[in-house]
Amino acid sequence: MVGTEALRADLKQVLARHKNAIEPKALIPGVDYLPASGKVVGPEELELLLMASADLWLTAGRFSDEFEEKFPRFWGSRKCLLVNSGSSANLLAFSALTSPTLKDRMLKREDEFITTACGFPTTVAPAVQYGMKPIFVDVDVATHNASVDDIIAAISPKTKLIMIAHALGNPYRADKLVKICEEKNIWLIEDCCDALGATIEGKHVGTFGALSTCSFYPAHHITMGEGGAVLINNALLGKVATSFRDWGRDCWCPPGQSNTCGIRFEWKMGELPKGYDHKYIYSHLGYNLKLTDFQAAVGLAQLERLPGFIEARRNNFTFLKTELIKLGLEEHFTLPKATEGTNPSWFGFFLCGKGQGSEFRNKIVTYLEENKIGTRLLFGGNLTKQPAFKGIPYSIHSTLKNTDKIMEEGFWVGVWPGLSEEHLSYIAKKINEAVKL
Ligand SMILES: Cc1ncc(COP(=O)(O)O)c(C=O)c1O
Repeated sequence: MVGTEALRADLKQVLARHKNAIEPKALIPGVDYLPASGKVVGPEELELLLMASADLWLTAGRFSDEFEEKFPRFWGSRKCLLVNSGSSANLLAFSALTSPTLKDRMLKREDEFITTACGFPTTVAPAVQYGMKPIFVDVDVATHNASVDDIIAAISPKTKLIMIAHALGNPYRADKLVKICEEKNIWLIEDCCDALGATIEGKHVGTFGALSTCSFYPAHHITMGEGGAVLINNALLGKVATSFRDWGRDCWCPPGQSNTCGIRFEWKMGELPKGYDHKYIYSHLGYNLKLTDFQAAVGLAQLERLPGFIEARRNNFTFLKTELIKLGLEEHFTLPKATEGTNPSWFGFFLCGKGQGSEFRNKIVTYLEENKIGTRLLFGGNLTKQPAFKGIPYSIHSTLKNTDKIMEEGFWVGVWPGLSEEHLSYIAKKINEAVKL
């Protein structure tokens, strides 16, 4: 063995000697903090990370290519583009729809889009930054999702996009929305950042809209540290999104390659001189949202664990819900439930008070945190109340009554794969104690 091959073999041996030091450690309830979300990583991730390091390629390369090939197979999507975060994935998916190549289907600043105010800001931000007006629909407390009927009722002739996240891993009925979107020429972007693995009538979320997005931040179903992906179900959008991700260029050569089109110096576009290097022809006002092979390498190891992770999240959810019902806590909280016809891939377990007000929620959350149990709110709550939305034009379809309730009375605890039944029993017990304080 020579050179990098020998280096790789040595690195694997060193890793094998220290395997125990990097195996995931079990958390002890009451002693260790039980985070609401977390990553499960170990020697497999480190081995691929070391292999990527030995390449010294540094940017997107063979590991990214492999991930982009394997990941859509898991979903049943056509194409995957890796990016450096879920927020970048949302920005990229949205930006692709502003391409002039889409002609009359190109999104314009005067268009409107339908979304929810209850969720993560970067689902909504890209279209607002572009200048489009959000129309916010309310959500149901138990599913945390907007109903298809409410979304359809909010559609106007100005609606050109529906961009909504599958809330906390629980799908909305994207299958039903997609029919109306096709009839009315409305784009659908599914933000699946919290819902990797969830299905609607047996089909993966993310396969209904023209584009869908994923996050690989450590809180999410699989992690790369930082990372995200856009899944694309439309051939033209694949080319456009690649351009926006890669500086807006017209050329599609991957890093380190040139002239894959075979006519690099023969293009004639617009007012550019004939033969202007295709590498430096820009058809969009793009970004550089690529990630590195280090991140993709970790993602590949995580992909192997994904089916187990999804199963663990579902089992943890069912176990915790059963425990809370056994303790009679349905009297005090609306407990989460799956949207009909779907199989969620739960991101968290959301509990919402039944009218006791925000002090009740704050009391429970404080007690849980004091007892080393991590809690989270449903992200931005009602986004229209966030400082960032002051002065932004928006409309509310009907009311945001439940969104406000969720902001005031809701919180969630973890069901991530690092938690076991022992942890969840402890969490249920502490919630029960907190209610009685
Ligand atoms: C629904 C949703 N969309 C987008 C994001 C952004 O992902 P990232 O943190 O990778 O930018 C998040 C983050 O948690 C999210 O929950």
